[in-house]
Amino acid sequence: MVIDRIRIAVEESASFQEACALTVELLRRYVPHFHWVGLYLLEGDLLTLAAWDGPEATEHTQIPVGEGICGLAAGTKETVIVENVDADPRYLACFPSTRSEIVVPILRGDQVIGEIDIDSDTPAAFTAEDRRLLEEVARLLAGQAGSLDERRDLQIEQ
Ligand code: SME
Repeated sequence: MVIDRIRIAVEESASFQEACALTVELLRRYVPHFHWVGLYLLEGDLLTLAAWDGPEATEHTQIPVGEGICGLAAGTKETVIVENVDADPRYLACFPSTRSEIVVPILRGDQVIGEIDIDSDTPAAFTAEDRRLLEEVARLLAGQAGSLDERRDLQIEQ
């Protein structure tokens, strides 16, 4: 299952950057309706694109908290699903083919450290099962960020 593949990849990654890169690649490869998969990390008040996998690059490599669907999810700390992007005035357009979108925040405690952003060319593509999968992936990534920090702190103390 894709979640097992991602768990192994994340746990075996030597850096958070590597964990992010493998996660976007695996999600896109194993879930057919995930057409573009991105991972943004929060730097100050800006969501900054850290890894992506898809047919083309996005011009939205930095998104302020509060702007677009990405900024909405970061501000509310809640998963946002948009079934029809054309009908949502908050949506920031990236690709003309996109019909629906899901954004899942990555939380450490009550702090947003980043988010998973997925575009689909299929209308209303995202299911409750996708949401559960991606919220679990977000927990895995938050755990990996925490354990890498702990390892770094231990190395500094030694
Ligand atoms: N659609 C997003 C912007 C990022 S692109 O989908 C890659 C939004 O509304 O925030």
